Formats: sequence, structure tokens, C-alpha cells
Amino acid sequence: MLLLTLLIVFVTSSTCSETQSRQKRAWIIDSYEIEEGHPGPFPYKLGQVSIDRKYQVYFDLYGQGIDEEPEGVFTINKNTGEIFVQRPVDYEEQKMLKLSFEAKKMHDLTIDTRLGIEILIQDINDNPPLFEKPLYEVTVDEDLSQGSHIQTVVAYDRDQKGTPNSTFHYAIKSVSPESPNIEFFIKNTGALSFKGCLDHEVVSKHTLLIEAIDHGEVVQLSSSTTVIINVEDGNNHLPVVTGQTGSGKVKENESGVSPLRLHVTDHDVFQSKAWRVEYTILGNEKGYFNIETDRKTNDGILTVVKSLDFEEGATKELKISVKNEAPYFSCEVKSRPTIGLWNVDVTKKQSSGGNIHYNATTVIIEVVDVNEPPEFTVTVKEAKLPENTQIGTWVEKVTAVDQDSSAARDFM
Ligand SMILES: *[C@@H]1O[C@H](CO)[C@@H](O)[C@H](O)[C@H]1NC(C)=O
Ligand SMILES: *[C@@H]1O[C@H](CO)[C@@H](O)[C@H](O)[C@H]1NC(C)=O
Ligand SMILES: *[C@@H]1O[C@H](CO)[C@@H](O)[C@H](O)[C@H]1NC(C)=O
Repeated sequence: MLLLTLLIVFVTSSTCSETQSRQKRAWIIDSYEIEEGHPGPFPYKLGQVSIDRKYQVYFDLYGQGIDEEPEGVFTINKNTGEIFVQRPVDYEEQKMLKLSFEAKKMHDLTIDTRLGIEILIQDINDNPPLFEKPLYEVTVDEDLSQGSHIQTVVAYDRDQKGTPNSTFHYAIKSVSPESPNIEFFIKNTGALSFKGCLDHEVVSKHTLLIEAIDHGEVVQLSSSTTVIINVEDGNNHLPVVTGQTGSGKVKENESGVSPLRLHVTDHDVFQSKAWRVEYTILGNEKGYFNIETDRKTNDGILTVVKSLDFEEGATKELKISVKNEAPYFSCEVKSRPTIGLWNVDVTKKQSSGGNIHYNATTVIIEVVDVNEPPEFTVTVKEAKLPENTQIGTWVEKVTAVDQDSSAARDFM
């Protein structure tokens, strides 16, 4: 229990203003402290005021903690001057209470003495650091390099500033799902970063539980927030040519036809820039061909845009390479030193150049002399053959038409 000692200074002379102002200051007595959240039991005695008088006086208290907010904290015994605390107080509501104390003469109730009392409320660690938001969600590119800033979380602690009760640090409590290629870390500022490689195909959504823990000497209080990191797919897979369909044949003097369709696979997200491809034709100096991407399937549709001349050659050899719309990127963890960032192998190139080996295929386009071989009306004829058929068995009649002849005739 604190003993409230009163230092009462009487100023008898009030002849000049200087004395008056000194007098005012002197009326504030030393401040006293009570601890917030005192568990009681209530009431308990805070102290006692007494003044040395020949005659009897009445004591009274007014102000914060009595008839002003927070009301009903203190009472005074009018006869003895003992001050009692009736209920707990909260430092976070009010850090100091200002009261005035009066002593009245018993016989005529005139004021004998009026003094100011200050009661400081001492903080206890009753507030955990609280985050501004219960959930932070952020989307980052897959090619974000390690050590880069992802998101800053912010917490505040309402306990007394500059004391361990309001000082705290951040810690990553959990990361899900776990991944060996990435390790998140948080700085004192609440800035979140990582070591290693982000990989959309491995983890497209990281969920982190972050705690703020204060440094209270008696108790440490904490709270947590969730950070969701969405990893946008970057282009870390190159497209690969898997096949081609079509006859590969084109009649001379014919343009606007498509003799060939190329097929590719790409393991990046369907219809993203990292998945969509662009084809390039090498050996197309005379501009006979054009290739376009089928937006739905990523197929490459080769088209003859300028009539080919059989006399220039019966075949055309074209090299077609394929790359993505988005620049290529790859990241691989090499080693994980205990201090600092990890050792990673990063390939990052703009689509235009670099030493990336784009996949390619060679196609042969056959130029068909319109005067020459008759063309089959069906490119592929399905023929069903019973098992164990003798070699040389006549399979099926295939009809071909010679455009040059006036009448159709049967081959074979
Ligand atoms: C911090 O809080 C504890 C109680 O949790 C209290 O005893 C201590 O005095 C406070 N420290 C400061 C500097 O306010
Ligand atoms: C093909 O085009 C050339 C030049 O335009 C022409 O001389 C030739 O007769 C054409 N051939 C046929 C079969 O149409
Ligand atoms: C394209 O990729 C396939 C499959 O990985 C490979 O067999 C082929 O050699 C590659 N071609 C080129 C030109 O890189």
C-alpha cells in the first residue's frame, strides 16, 4: 500500500501577482502512483491527508476518479482524511488522474485549504501487441528474387511506450504447406521476405501465421495474424513440340491453305502468358509461309501465303521454333548456408534473346506439281483387316482422281 504524504505549503501573502502564481504551483502536491488493474480486495487505503489545525476540519475530494471520469474510484473519509481505492483503474484509459482536495472548517463550512492531487497510474502488461489486420493477402510473381520484400505486417501495443511491456518482436509461427525450396523470414520492421525459390507449380499459395510477442518482464503477451502469399505462375517451363498433323503437301499455285499443324505442350498455367506460345519460321526468306498460333490449343497452323513454284524445288525444309509470350525464368536452390540468403541458380531472360535453348522442329513441305500425280480423294483411308490375314490379300479399293484427265478412272 502506498502512503500518501502531503506536502502542504501555505502562502500567507498574496500581495503581488508573482506570489500568486507561485502560490498556484505550490498548491499541486507531489504525485502518487497506483497500479492499474489492482486485484483488490476493495476498498483499500491509499493514504491519508492531514493538516495541522487547532480546530476541526472536514475533508473532501473532487475531480477525476470521483465525480469525473472514471467515476467512483476514490472515496475519502471526511473526518479522518483517509483516501480509499474502490475499484481497479486502466492505464490505457487514463494515465494520470487529477483531483482536488478540500479542507473545510467544521463550524462554518468555509474553505480552509484547497490542494491539487495527482495520481499516476502505473502500467502493467495487460495488452498484447495487436495486428492492424487479422489477414493479409498478397500476390507475388514467381520470378521474385529471394530477399525481396513481400509484405509488411504492423502491430501496436497499447501498454506504456518505451517500456518492455509495449516492446515486441515478430516471429513466424508456422508456414503451410512446408516446402524445402523456400524459407520465409521476418525483419524487426515486420517486413516479410524469403530465401530460396518461389515455384507456382510446387506451392501456389503459402499460408503464414505470424506472431507479435511483447517483452513484458512478468508476463509476455502475444497475438497473431495470417499472411497468404499467392504465387503467380511465371514462365518456368518451356514449350516442347510434341508432334504434327496434316499432309505436309501443298499444290503449287495454291495459297491460303494449311498443310500442317504443330502441337506443343507447356506445363505452365493454361492460357497464361507463360503457357501461350509464339512460333518462328527459319528458312522462310521468300515469305511463302506464315505460322499462327491457335489460341485455344496452342497449335501452330502453318499456312502458305504465297504460291509455291514446283520448279523451284519439290520440297521445302523449314525449321520452326517455339517460345512463350512471357520471358522465361527458372530458379533452383543449390545450397542453404545458415547465414544470409541461399545459393540459388537463376535463369532469367527476356523473350528476345539470351542463351535459352528454345525447342524447335524441322518440317518438310512437299510441293505438288498440279499436272503430275493424281491426288487421293481421301488422305487417309481406314482399312480393317482381320487378324492373321495372308500377306498379299487385296485390302480395299482406293479411289483416286486425276484432275488432269477428263474422266475419273480407277487405280490399282
Ligand atoms: C510492466 O508490467 C508489469 C506487470 O505485468 C509491471 O509490474 C511493471 O511495472 C511494468 N513495467 C513498466 C516499466 O511499466
Ligand atoms: C502457275 O502460276 C504461274 C505463274 O503465275 C503460271 O505461269 C502457271 O501457268 C501456273 N500453273 C498452273 C498449273 O496454274
Ligand atoms: C525439343 O524437345 C524434345 C523433347 O524434349 C527433344 O527431344 C528435342 O530434341 C528438342 N528439340 C530441340 C531442337 O531442342
